[in-house]
Amino acid sequence: MKLLENIGLKALHQIDPEAAHGLAIKALQMGMAHAPGTLTSPRLKTTFAGLDLPNPVGLAAGFDKNATALDGLAKAGFGFFEVGAATPRPQPGNPKPRLFRLSEDRAAINRFGFNNEGMDAIAARLANRPKNAVIGLNLGANKDSEDRASDFAKVLAHCGAHLDFATVNVSSPNTEKLRDLQGKAALSALLSGVMETRDALDRPIPVFLKIAPDLSDAEIAEIAEVAVESRLDAVITTNTTLDRKGLASKHRDEMGGLSGAPLFTKSTRVLARLSQLTDGQMPLIGVGGICNAQDAYDKICAGASVVQLYTALVYGGLSLVEGIVRGLDALLEQDGFSNVAEAVGTKRENWL
Ligand code: FNR
Repeated sequence: MKLLENIGLKALHQIDPEAAHGLAIKALQMGMAHAPGTLTSPRLKTTFAGLDLPNPVGLAAGFDKNATALDGLAKAGFGFFEVGAATPRPQPGNPKPRLFRLSEDRAAINRFGFNNEGMDAIAARLANRPKNAVIGLNLGANKDSEDRASDFAKVLAHCGAHLDFATVNVSSPNTEKLRDLQGKAALSALLSGVMETRDALDRPIPVFLKIAPDLSDAEIAEIAEVAVESRLDAVITTNTTLDRKGLASKHRDEMGGLSGAPLFTKSTRVLARLSQLTDGQMPLIGVGGICNAQDAYDKICAGASVVQLYTALVYGGLSLVEGIVRGLDALLEQDGFSNVAEAVGTKRENWL
């Protein structure tokens, strides 16, 4: 499988990145992707925001924007996965090209701009979702919406019955002014609408907030306050960055959000800061630049209860998931932890 995957990855890297991504989704739909099934152990099993997870390694939003590969993803070994972003109405996103590989940097830049088929199509697929997986939806706002803040609640109300969790994404850099919604007053108002909608669901689900890595300490402190006041179930740290420091690849100056290895340190610092500000009481999802088991473990020790990844899959293929999950189990054992929860935040000080 690994050899075949390597050949496949080499071939995919010869073609346009967005087309290659489409083929990766096709492979998942056709059952041709690495499929170890549920990966778990007593050390890896964990409960996060009330969700029972077989392991703490999740797929980040943006990989399966339209929820078209749910069955394949349920077998890929992730402890949980997030699809979307979904907006109320379908929208085409930005003109192509809008996804770039930065191979020398093990990174990517994207400026998709919430291209998706809209909440009706996505809800219909989620209604037929596999039941043996933990699936969340990344909520987005239409670019031309008259009331962006209410778009998040709209998508949640429409899709909530089929979800295990939902994420308010106010941190994509590719929808102009979206990140302004991270400011205290705007965020507070937006979240109060979302939480009201969540509370009114027949089966209320946990709601997470996803934040940007490009925030000052003061902004992070405000977000911490709002997160607690709003009764959020968790914060996802972080989305992609606008930072371009230290890159070698020819596409480094493309506009959009940078993800992958160069994001690791920055996003982990925001994670540790938020963990400190909330006294380790706010559940955190660590995402940004995880490429191997050690990176996943480092995020956990910095304060994340669970992690997510995306860009490393472009370079390592889906079999990377199994390697990270098994490697994480070994690292926990090596340091004498009997479960993931024991390791959370144990090395937070290193990142502050
Ligand atoms: C993303 N990401 C993203 N995040 C989000 O909240 N909603 C989205 O729709 C998308 N879309 C998206 C598309 C592409 C092509 C990429 C590479 C990324 C961000 C993603 O979920 C994650 O936060 C970052 O990519 C950082 O993690 P990695 O990729 O460094 O592991």
